Amino acid sequence: MTAPTPSSTAGPETGVEPHPAAAALLSDLRRQLRPESSVLANEPLARRTTMRVGGCADVLVEPCDETDLATTLVAASAAGIPRRVLGRGSNLLVRDHGLRGLVISLNHPFFARIERFGDCLLRAGAGARLKELANEARRNALAGLEFLAGIPGSVGGALRMNAGAWNAMTFERLETIRLMTPDGLVRECPANEVPATYRRCELFVDHLALGAVFRGDPSTREAVEARLNELNQKRWASQPAAPSAGCIFKNPAAIPAGRLVDELGLKGLRLGGASISTVHGNFIVNDGQATAADILGLIEQVRAKARETRGIELETEVEIIGE
Ligand code: EPU
Repeated sequence: MTAPTPSSTAGPETGVEPHPAAAALLSDLRRQLRPESSVLANEPLARRTTMRVGGCADVLVEPCDETDLATTLVAASAAGIPRRVLGRGSNLLVRDHGLRGLVISLNHPFFARIERFGDCLLRAGAGARLKELANEARRNALAGLEFLAGIPGSVGGALRMNAGAWNAMTFERLETIRLMTPDGLVRECPANEVPATYRRCELFVDHLALGAVFRGDPSTREAVEARLNELNQKRWASQPAAPSAGCIFKNPAAIPAGRLVDELGLKGLRLGGASISTVHGNFIVNDGQATAADILGLIEQVRAKARETRGIELETEVEIIGE
C-alpha cells in the first residue's frame, strides 16, 4: 500500500474540500486491506481515462481480489461516502475539480483473467480488456466476439453500458454474469435474467460487475482473424485516433448523432484544447491541452444547436462525473 501526500484538486489552493469522511476512510482501508491492494489519496484521474482530462479522486482503491473489494464497499457505505467504479475510463468524462469520495478501480491482474471452458465459452473478469477478450476468442477459433475488439474498454464497462459496435451488443453474447451486491455479496446469475437496453444495464447502477461468461460460435482462426481485420479497417476509416471518450451522445431515434452533428456543420468546432472530430461528428477529441470544461462547453453547444434547429434533445452517452 502506498501513502502519497495529498496534493490535489481538493484542498485550500483550489477552494475544493475533500469529502468530510475521506481521511477516516483512507486510514480504515489502509488498516483493513491487504498489502497487495492499493489505497491512494488524491489520485489524478486524467491519466486513468482515455479522454485524459479531469481532477483527482479523494481516495482511489485497487483491490487485489473480491474479498478486499467487498471490504472496501462495506467500509465506504459505513462511512457514508459515495463510490464509483472505474473501468478503463474510456466512456468517462471527469470534471476538472475531480471527484469527492471513493473511486474503485478493478485494474489488479486478479480481475483481468480470461479462460476458456466448455466448447465455446470464455470466462472474463471485469478488468479484462475487450480487445484481449476478442483476441482470446480468435486464439480459440470462436466467432461472434469480434465486435468487441475495437471498443477501448473493459469487460466491466461493457457490462455496465451494454457496450456495442457493428450492430452487436455485449448482452447478446452473455451466458452468465458475476456481480457484487452493494453490501459486498458475490452472486452469479443467468444473463437473460438481467434486463439491458441500448447502452444501459440498470442493475449496475448500484451493483458491481465482476465478470461474465461469453459465448462464441465455433469457427476457424482464419475466419475470425479476417472478420477482426475487416472491422478494424472500418473503425479506423470512420473514427478518430486522437484521445477521446468514444461517442459522446447516444444515437437519438431520429438520426445517428454523428450524422446530425455533421449536418449541423459543427465538425471541427473548437473550444480551448477540445474539438469536434473532423472524422466523426459524435467524437470530441483532446489535442493534449483540453480541460473538462472545454469538452463540456462543446457538448452544450452541440445540444443547444440540435435543440434549436432540429428539436432533437441529445443525451450524452459518456458518463460525466465529479465537480
Ligand atoms: N455519419 C455522418 N457523419 C459523421 C459521422 C457519421 O454522416 O460525422 C453517418 C455515417 O455515414 C452513418 C451514420 O452516420 O451513415 C452512423 O455512423 P456510424 O456508422 O459511424 O455509426 P454510429 O451510430 O455513429 C455507432 C456506435 C459506435 C460504434 C459504431 C460502429 C453509438 C452512439 N455509437 O456509431 O460506438 O463504434 O456504431 O458500430 O451507438 C461508442 O459507443 O462510444 C461508439 C463509438
